[in-house]
Formats: sequence, C-alpha cells, structure tokens
Amino acid sequence: MIIAPSLLAADYGKFAREAQRVARSGADWIHLDIMDGHFVPNISFGPGVVSAVREQCRSFLDVHLMCSKPEILIDPFRKAGASQMTVHVELGDAVSGLLWKIRSMGCKVGLAINPPTSISTVRPFLRQIDTLLVMTVNPGFGGQEFIHETLPKIQQVAAWRRAGPGFFHIEVDGGINLTTARECARAGADAFVSGSDLFRQRSLRRGVEKLRKAVVQAGAGVLQGAAEPSAALR
Ligand code: DX5
Ligand code: ZN
Repeated sequence: MIIAPSLLAADYGKFAREAQRVARSGADWIHLDIMDGHFVPNISFGPGVVSAVREQCRSFLDVHLMCSKPEILIDPFRKAGASQMTVHVELGDAVSGLLWKIRSMGCKVGLAINPPTSISTVRPFLRQIDTLLVMTVNPGFGGQEFIHETLPKIQQVAAWRRAGPGFFHIEVDGGINLTTARECARAGADAFVSGSDLFRQRSLRRGVEKLRKAVVQAGAGVLQGAAEPSAALR
C-alpha cells in the first residue's frame, strides 16, 4: 500500500526543504503534478524542478503528466529522475505508444483517467501498466472536493485486476483525506495521493501515519506486495 504526498500543495518558497520533509515523512512515493496550461487550465512545474527534488532524495518519484503532448516530455522527465510517469487515457490514439515509450526508458508506467471518461477506455491497456490512476477530482487544481461518483470506477478496475493475470496499483488522486481514503480503500484502491489535507497538518509524518492506518483498517492492508516499486529504489 502506497502513500504519495503531492508536492503541488507544498510551500513553493522552500520547495527543496518541502521535498526533504516528504522524503523523511515515511511516505512511499512523492507525487509530482505536471500541468501544461493546455490539457488542464493551470501550470505547475517542469523537469528542472523534478531534477531539484531528485537531488534532495532517493524517493520513488511519481510524475503525473497532465499534458497534451507528453511525447516531448518523457525523455526530459526521465533525465530529471522520474521513477514512474503517468499519462492520460484521454489522449486517445497516442496512449499505446506513450506507454511503450515510458517503459522503454526504464521507468514504471502509469495511466490516468478523468472522472467523466468511461472506465472501459483503460481496459485494453491494463497489461501494459504498473499503475492505474483514477482521478477523483477533475485535474488542474489541488484542494477540490472528492467526487463520489468515481467510486464505482475503482470497484470496476479492482474487479478486472482480481480476474486478470498481473498486478497494477490502483491509485486515487484528488480530495483524499482520512474519510475519502477509507472509501477508496474499500472500493479497491491501494495507492493514495494527498496534497492539501496532508500539508495542512502540523506534522507530515503523523499525517502520513494516520492516512496509512486508516486505509489499512479499511482493507488495503492485504496488498502488501504493493510496496515493491518504492523498495526497488532504496
Ligand atoms: C489535481 C492533482 C492532484 C492534486 C491533489 O489535478 O492531480 O495530485 O495535487 O491535491 P488535493 O489532495 O489537494 O486534492
Ligand atoms: Zn496528480
């Protein structure tokens, strides 16, 4: 089971220290939200910033590309130290080639799906990925409210995963707090991105601990093998 604080909610004035704080919080992954101002109506940061985070820690860097043209970014983010790169299924015909390209660069492969998109669109790619990221808000901004209508999608992919030949993480992202994380864990999620809720707490380490406890109690604890990708980097 994976806890992945999102640096989108960090204090940008002391980004390097914030990265160190997450790396020492007991979290499994660091989630990095890359927004291009086109795929989503916001801009965050690029490979230079990810590279600066990499210099601060050896943590598993989970790079979420909310970008219209990830093909021009995969190589720069790999060089910056990404451990996993996630692209969106909404990119249509480009998806298969993008997943292949990420894999060929030696990174873990993620596929994300937005709340309005039909879950059937991800099914053809499940054998090609390490992580399926189910967006639980419409991407673009931190601090939004969890969309409950995404829960059946998590249940559906969890059913496909149980029936299928291989393991992939089911990651949730957006509006995750103790309550919504429990709901997602019960639906079958095993990787939890949290920005605003974690960073608003005085102790990030304590926040990560509480979140982990909540999802383990809700049932995600059975997926112990899910910790494997972060361990691979240690
Ligand atoms: C939303 C991003 C999320 C965001 C989550 O577009 O993909 O990763 O940082 O932030 P919170 O936890 O504040 O909803
Ligand atoms: Zn994200």
